[in-house]
Amino acid sequence: MLSLATALPLTVLALAGPVPDGARQSELLHLVLHDCGSCHGMTLNGGLGNPLLPDVLAGKPADALADVILDGVPGTPMPPWRGLITRDEAVWIADQLKEGLVE
Ligand code: HEC
Repeated sequence: MLSLATALPLTVLALAGPVPDGARQSELLHLVLHDCGSCHGMTLNGGLGNPLLPDVLAGKPADALADVILDGVPGTPMPPWRGLITRDEAVWIADQLKEGLVE
């Protein structure tokens, strides 16, 4: 029998979208700091690529940022990451960047 107590957290997770598990989260944060940081700055405050800090990303939906992360920006050094990370992971990364949680 499914009680309300077990059904509720599942609903919350479904609304927030799939979240990578703990080990994958550390891998993704490592990727952001090292691989993305090589262009966006080790503290993500900009370099060859623009800053990826919350105030800069505030007006940009996580979904649109995930598109940029997955497909890159043709004609600029921003490479596509599709194949290395999934769409859900790209959305998760965008959320972390928007919340300023990558450090
Ligand atoms: C080789 C250099 C390089 C690497 C590596 C790189 N980027 Fe970029 N990125 C850029 C450049 C340059 C731009 C600006 C493109 C443009 O002119 O629109 C950009 C743009 C972006 C944007 C759009 C920002 C905005 O304000 O709209 C996001 C988000 C982003 N990168 C995330 C990432 C993430 C996440 C990674 C790692 C998985 C990454 N980038 C790795 C060079 C890079």
